[in-house]
Amino acid sequence: MDALSYDASHDASFAPATPRALATEAVHAGRDDLAALGLHAVPLDLSTTYPSHDARAEAERIDAFATTGARPEGPPVYARLDNPTTARFETALARLEGTESAVAFASGMAALTAVLLVRASMGLRHVVAVRPLYGCSDHLLTAGLLGTEVTWTDVAGIADAIRPDTGLVMVETPANPTLAEVDIRAVARACGSVPLLVDSTFATPVLQRPVEHGARIVLHSATKYLGGHGDVLAGVVACDEEFAGKLRQVRFATGGVLHPLASYLLLRGLSTLPVRMRAASASAAELARRLSADPRIARVHYPEIGGAMVSFEVYGDPHDVIAGVRLITPAVSLGSVDTLIQHPASISHRIVDEDDRRSAGVSDRLLRMSVGLEDVEDLWRDLTEALSARPGRPAAEGAVRESRSAVR
Ligand SMILES: Cc1ncc(COP(=O)(O)O)c(C=O)c1O
Repeated sequence: MDALSYDASHDASFAPATPRALATEAVHAGRDDLAALGLHAVPLDLSTTYPSHDARAEAERIDAFATTGARPEGPPVYARLDNPTTARFETALARLEGTESAVAFASGMAALTAVLLVRASMGLRHVVAVRPLYGCSDHLLTAGLLGTEVTWTDVAGIADAIRPDTGLVMVETPANPTLAEVDIRAVARACGSVPLLVDSTFATPVLQRPVEHGARIVLHSATKYLGGHGDVLAGVVACDEEFAGKLRQVRFATGGVLHPLASYLLLRGLSTLPVRMRAASASAAELARRLSADPRIARVHYPEIGGAMVSFEVYGDPHDVIAGVRLITPAVSLGSVDTLIQHPASISHRIVDEDDRRSAGVSDRLLRMSVGLEDVEDLWRDLTEALSARPGRPAAEGAVRESRSAVR
């Protein structure tokens, strides 16, 4: 067997003889066959097509894929069907989430799009969702861009909002950007037979495995903690194999595949995920504690399950804090090794209608911080100086002053 061919030991169904801890799976899942192949690093297959003199065998593989969406046995025929490096990432993520399968996409939004298309194609166009969600997820549902219709409700209203054509219930926990949490088990009960999708991007499988609590579908913007270094855009859905087959068929037809280099980087990121999450969460908890005691802060949001995200509402102008940071990176996104801060009302949730945003608890004074791996004392120094910053604080670069006037 050559380095790039398929092997049962990186199929999602492969289970090690002895159950392994999450930290071990993070390093080895999807890579169990490497030593037998004489390899240490994951092989990166950049092929877009797979030559074969046997067109009959290719036709059979295409027919099999069209029937079930199962990963083709043997070479993928064409890269939009499958890719061996991406398959390794999918196997690893499925094992971390405790699901049969996982299907990777070009971004978190491409992943959500595929889930909605699968359900809509079955005539189940209605979605029940709980706010807040990430701004673009909210927008995709509210605008009905895919021909879906949404009913927004709170957790208590889920059961009543479900209709015969409801194809999905969607929650985010902890939610972007307020870090509000839901009891996944209680929500799953309220869903009855309707699949519950949990966007678990902020928790990662290190802090929460939604399928163990009754969710059927777990979505990640892998752009965030799974990649972990701010250099990969990706999404992934962890679910049972039957739903995964449908997702692969939609991915093949609509083209939102993940580039294999991104899959390679994601596998590298997964190896350190538990260590990164533990370190960043410890700093985030400490910063949340200090912010709670700070008279310049009106309210701190920090999840009960922990994690590396902290949101807080300031009495002063949040734009001054964004303009005032020097060590902390003033940027949207999250889950990188460096600490990022952004103003949701201006950026991540700008696209959500102002009234909907505010009634979901996204105050105009809210700042969302993704805590990275810097020393916590350095982070606190930068944050506390930025919180004291007035428009006159000397800027490190002229550009900072310009960007501040631009956002006002
Ligand atoms: C919770 C959550 N879900 C989904 C997405 C969308 O992911 P992507 O940007 O990878 O498309 C994001 C992006 O910020 C997010 O924060």
